[in-house]
Amino acid sequence: MNNTLIIVGHPTYESSFTTKTITEFLNATPEFLTGSLKIRNLISLYPDYKIDIDAEQDALSWADVVVLQFPFYWYSVPAILKLWMDEVFSYGFAYGKTGNKMNGKKLLLSFSTGGPQEAYAAGARNNFNIEELLFPIKQTSNLMGTQWENPLVSFGMVNISGIESDKTVTVEKAKLHALKLYELCQKA
Ligand SMILES: Cc1cc2nc3c(=O)[nH]c(=O)nc-3n(C[C@H](O)[C@H](O)[C@H](O)COP(=O)(O)O)c2cc1C
Repeated sequence: MNNTLIIVGHPTYESSFTTKTITEFLNATPEFLTGSLKIRNLISLYPDYKIDIDAEQDALSWADVVVLQFPFYWYSVPAILKLWMDEVFSYGFAYGKTGNKMNGKKLLLSFSTGGPQEAYAAGARNNFNIEELLFPIKQTSNLMGTQWENPLVSFGMVNISGIESDKTVTVEKAKLHALKLYELCQKA
């Protein structure tokens, strides 16, 4: 496996079903144990949201493949991951005249939604498909010169306090997601 960096962006990781299942799966892979796969869980590194930009950029410089792992929040990434992007993909690092440090790396979005897949379509509840909703991040990738990989999405993984959901079923689906992600990382 190429050097693979997983950025986990979940503000309430400990109560997550999907993100936690996927992260724990990756944590037990031989590549994690031998060091070619690294995981940076933003909320455990930065519970105060004070991101160590140098440490994050060093981690990115090491990586050939960068995976953003997150729950879909308001049709986008959660605030902690957006903050990480805002601060770490900085001028001179990720873009600008000399900002070529992300150039050529593969970028893979891996995330879960609460909504079912059929809700993500023209005329349906969410009006747009997932690909359309990801355009701002895809353009960020274009600007940085990263290679956009097909996102890996699991729909219908709802985990919202007050909304009934079946944790056992969701965790089983999340394990399948984790396996697919692992295989994609091995191929990337
Ligand atoms: C603040 C917030 C915003 C959310 N926004 C969306 C959304 O825009 N679309 C969607 O399908 N699900 C949305 N959800 C549902 C989450 O995507 C879902 O609960 C999550 O992917 C489950 O993963 P987890 O178990 O790792 O938390 C939202 C949940 C929260 C708490």
